[in-house]
Amino acid sequence: MEKPATADFPLLDAIARRWSPRAFADRPVDAALVRSCLEAARWAPSAMNGQPWVFLVASRQDANLHARAVDALAEGNRRWAAAAPVLIFVCANTAPALGGKPNPYARHDIGIALGLFVVQATALGLGAHPMAGIRPEAVRAGWGLPEHVEPWTAIALGWPGDPASLPDDLRVREEAPRERQPQAAFVFGGRYGEPWKG
Ligand SMILES: Cc1cc2nc3c(=O)[nH]c(=O)nc-3n(C[C@H](O)[C@H](O)[C@H](O)COP(=O)(O)O)c2cc1C
Repeated sequence: MEKPATADFPLLDAIARRWSPRAFADRPVDAALVRSCLEAARWAPSAMNGQPWVFLVASRQDANLHARAVDALAEGNRRWAAAAPVLIFVCANTAPALGGKPNPYARHDIGIALGLFVVQATALGLGAHPMAGIRPEAVRAGWGLPEHVEPWTAIALGWPGDPASLPDDLRVREEAPRERQPQAAFVFGGRYGEPWKG
């Protein structure tokens, strides 16, 4: 299924085609493709080049690890994300970097890395769905995270599937149009609330 952005201005193809699917095909994802998505994340910009991201990868090839990852999702996401062949937790390493203080931009920068990951996944024909609905304590305990590493989000990754495989309520959401507010609602010029005139 395709749900391209109804963009008001020209976009790179992979950005226009990216969306957050819930239906995944029962087909494994080659590790080389997962590496490619992680490589996109690796080359994200970050404050002071601190690279504060940590990715915990669980693919279905390791059934026990995948089951542990499914268990560490919030219940609402487990319903559909359990079918994704690859689940990845995205964590922020807040450990002191160059300046000697905890990195205040760690959470900001893992978002950029996640953004590049999902765009690369789209360019490869994969579906990638970010999730905040995780059980951070289960991730912390299950993967033995040190205190300064914070689990924040997960990504369900896989080949696009058939929306008919989803429960009715999720299928309706899967097929709903994607919506965005116009730039005028959040792009301002000289004063907050005044749309930029460019
Ligand atoms: C940080 C973050 C957390 C999200 N958490 C969830 C989630 O827990 N469950 C879910 O189904 N979708 C989640 N999403 C997906 C958003 O709902 C989705 O990106 C948004 O509705 C826009 O849809 P689109 O990605 O298809 O354009 C999350 C996305 C982001 C970036």
